[in-house]
Amino acid sequence: MRYPEEVIQEVIGQNDIVDVVSGYVALSPRAGNHFGICPFHGEKTPSFSVNQSKQIFYCFGCHTGGSVLTFIMKIENLDFLDALKLLADRARYRLPEKEESASAKEQRASRELSAELNKRAARFYHDHLYGNTLDAQNARQYLEERGIHPTLAKRFGLGLSPTAWDGLLSHLSDTLPEHVAAAGLATQNRKDATRYYDRFRSRLMFPIIDTRNRVVGFGGRIMGEGDKQEAKYVNTPETALFHKSDNLYGLNLARKTRKAELIIVEGYMDVLAMHQWGFTNTVGVLGTALNDSHVRLLKNAGCTSVVLMLDGDEAGVRATLRAIPPLTKGGIRIKTLNITEYDPGAKDPDEYLQRHGAASLTELLRNAKSHIAFQVELYKDKHDMDTIDGRVSFTQEAAKLLSTLPSAIETEAHVSEISKISDISESAIHTEINKQKGNAPMILPTTRRRTSAAGRGQERSIKKAKETLLHLILTHHAAAAALEKSGYLSAREMGNGIYTELLELAFNNAKQGKQMNPVDVISAFESGDLHHAITEVFIDSPEYETKAAIEKSLNETAFIIKRAWALHQMQSEDAKNCQETLQSLGLMVRNMPSISI
Ligand code: CTP
Ligand code: MN
Repeated sequence: MRYPEEVIQEVIGQNDIVDVVSGYVALSPRAGNHFGICPFHGEKTPSFSVNQSKQIFYCFGCHTGGSVLTFIMKIENLDFLDALKLLADRARYRLPEKEESASAKEQRASRELSAELNKRAARFYHDHLYGNTLDAQNARQYLEERGIHPTLAKRFGLGLSPTAWDGLLSHLSDTLPEHVAAAGLATQNRKDATRYYDRFRSRLMFPIIDTRNRVVGFGGRIMGEGDKQEAKYVNTPETALFHKSDNLYGLNLARKTRKAELIIVEGYMDVLAMHQWGFTNTVGVLGTALNDSHVRLLKNAGCTSVVLMLDGDEAGVRATLRAIPPLTKGGIRIKTLNITEYDPGAKDPDEYLQRHGAASLTELLRNAKSHIAFQVELYKDKHDMDTIDGRVSFTQEAAKLLSTLPSAIETEAHVSEISKISDISESAIHTEINKQKGNAPMILPTTRRRTSAAGRGQERSIKKAKETLLHLILTHHAAAAALEKSGYLSAREMGNGIYTELLELAFNNAKQGKQMNPVDVISAFESGDLHHAITEVFIDSPEYETKAAIEKSLNETAFIIKRAWALHQMQSEDAKNCQETLQSLGLMVRNMPSISI
């Protein structure tokens, strides 16, 4: 899914970077640039710069940088496509429809219609909740009793579905009922297929909003205890638009906190209570197991660690256990908090907050256990810790879990935690871990070469040479063409990663006689992380007055890169054993090329 390059460039071109950034950061002009306090890391003196002529930004403190699109991705926590959409909207630019198959087109049209209907329904329910009927007064009173203030209810767009069987259907009378049903808002009569009725009646309505700010579905709670015959919650079923596994309740608000740690709870009411009490980085799973799609959503929101605070009952514990593998796989750090352990009278975070307030929960969150400790506690319950046998098998099981941890530091932290839980000495646990590791496949530690200060200086100047060269050949296609024709530098000699890709990009451009400005290069890559490294190529690049200056720089930088590569090769066993290889590498180290444009 990608828009053509011209479209991306056009959208970026219509959003001046100084204009956009000024909406978030106070900028003041200095030495041809604009400077401000970096919004991406804590600082007191401004090291965040915006270069209007290059249309890029760069922070000299935290090395974040990129185009206006990168900036929006970072500050609004959006992915490439959504950031592009935001900028297109801002400039009132209509993104072209993509080529799609007939059935894909139909699907999309159906999703769009569903989103539109859900939005209208949300407004309808919301207006009903704030209307003058007796039902509405009761509903508002119920919310008040549960500690949900009107401001919060409005922030979450809460609503009330009317009692009538066709309250929403008649409100949407301009729409075919089958479409209302396809949006999940109405159901078809089983006996008489021509008849439809509202899915949600007399319920408190929780609209579910996705990361694109669309209302995709609802949860509907009966008021009060309700009739035991009825389900406490009725939810939107799976539709073309709504998949409960692809949504987290409250994520649209939680992501705005831009916190790297999000709290995950089970219920709608828990999310509301948490936000009400100031824990606005809380999201809810929608009555389903946490899976890979949720993890993707979390990561897209910039989340790197979570606190799992599911219900304290057995089902909640099972759900916590099941959530650990997908989160670990996604590289998200996990803490767990079972509030029922602290107050048996509170079965979920909502109840805990009503009973103890925010300060108490903050304290519990501060002491939340790692998922390892959580699992170890479960092992402990499984074994009889009063007997020697029980403690031995407990220690074996715990050690096995710890032996899977990749880092020694992490293991160390858990060992002391487990020693406290089990009352078994740290050294005994260590011995057991080592024994378990003997059985487990060995994970080879990665060796890191120590670099001296001189070595670091050299690395810096090689990096600088790469940046200078890349800037040169990306912005002067004749230089790129000459370098490629000379065959002097190959992509792999640029080292790995983004530099290699940029050299290839420059060579490709040369073939088409194309040269790029910094923003074009940045937008050729979707990942925001790459944007920072690419920006460094451009941020303080030299200006060239003459062709001779370009040639000089081209030869010098290419030589520095080649020499560094050759010196490195000379260290390899293959080279050491082959006189011929050593000789040719030696030539590369000594002789500067003479590439002319
Ligand atoms: N749930 C559901 N269908 C049900 C019951 C529960 O979809 N019949 C989901 C809902 O997402 C609900 C969550 O499971 O929010 C947790 O359920 P529960 O603990 O029963 O509800 P709470 O959100 O705690 O609501 P309340 O405090 O009002 O009882
Ligand atoms: Mn509850």
